[in-house]
Amino acid sequence: MQKESILVIGSAGQLGVELVAALKNVYGETQVVSSDVREPAKIRKEELGIFEKLDVLNPVRLNEIVEKYQITQIYHLAAMLSATGEKHPKHAWQLNMQGLINVLDIAIEKKLHKIYFPSSIAVFGPTTPKDNTPQFCSMEPTTVYGISKQAGEGWCNYYFKRYGVDVRSLRYPGLIGYKSMPGGGTTDYAVDIYHKALYSKTYECFLSENTYLPMMYMDDAIKATLDLMHADASKIAVRTSYNLNGMSFSPKEIAQSIQKIIPEFTISYNPDFRQAIADSWPNSIDDSQAQKDWGWKPDYDLDKMTQTMLENIKIGIEKGIIV
Ligand code: SER
Repeated sequence: MQKESILVIGSAGQLGVELVAALKNVYGETQVVSSDVREPAKIRKEELGIFEKLDVLNPVRLNEIVEKYQITQIYHLAAMLSATGEKHPKHAWQLNMQGLINVLDIAIEKKLHKIYFPSSIAVFGPTTPKDNTPQFCSMEPTTVYGISKQAGEGWCNYYFKRYGVDVRSLRYPGLIGYKSMPGGGTTDYAVDIYHKALYSKTYECFLSENTYLPMMYMDDAIKATLDLMHADASKIAVRTSYNLNGMSFSPKEIAQSIQKIIPEFTISYNPDFRQAIADSWPNSIDDSQAQKDWGWKPDYDLDKMTQTMLENIKIGIEKGIIV
């Protein structure tokens, strides 16, 4: 069997950094090519390994990299998230949509083995059932990010059915990890709060105290991604994107979880435009389809995540490896 050679697009982002490390563990250091629109900081670049500068909106450059490394799989992570997308709606649409089409097209042209496309809870909207949101239900997203992810899911399904592209996707909840900071999302508060808890013992939250959102610890997100990508194709019944559940909590609850370790920590609330985005998303997710099709099960709950985050942010900042 041909050795897999993997291109990660958007590898300097919150998910990319962790996924590249996990993929290198599975496939080997030399088989994973990182790429991003910007040169990452030196320390980050060393961690990423083989690196190419790539704007996914440039199909010629994409083609060049795919040929240079004889790429067989692409993990296409580059996208503009919900909060930033609302500030630049046309650019978010262009990047999130055309970027995906460029990747799907090269998958056909180069007969790539597999493609990964991250979707999001942002595909849901105010008409979606809020609790235990089902896999199949009303989806009327209100953010340009959500609209683009929902359309992206549709394109993935289309390329699979029409051209046989083996593209797989997950609807991530808010992702929480310590290795890098997220950029421009509505769920980002749940990362920032841990940093502030350690260093200023207080946090002002841009969402109100009882805003429940689906969330997931990064190790679970990486496990889900690799489990899905390694599952036998016959098991993948959903070719739009799978619902994925980790945990569900409010700002008040994450603050209480932190207070079990840092009792003096305080939180205040000052909701901004991101409150409306959060209000349009589910409180919790039903992922029974993912459980049934490829055996999904998360390992982390809120308190286990809090402990891991606080320990590792402290170590990482002391060693200068969190950038
Ligand atoms: N974390 C993303 C955001 O908040 C949701 O997928 O935009």
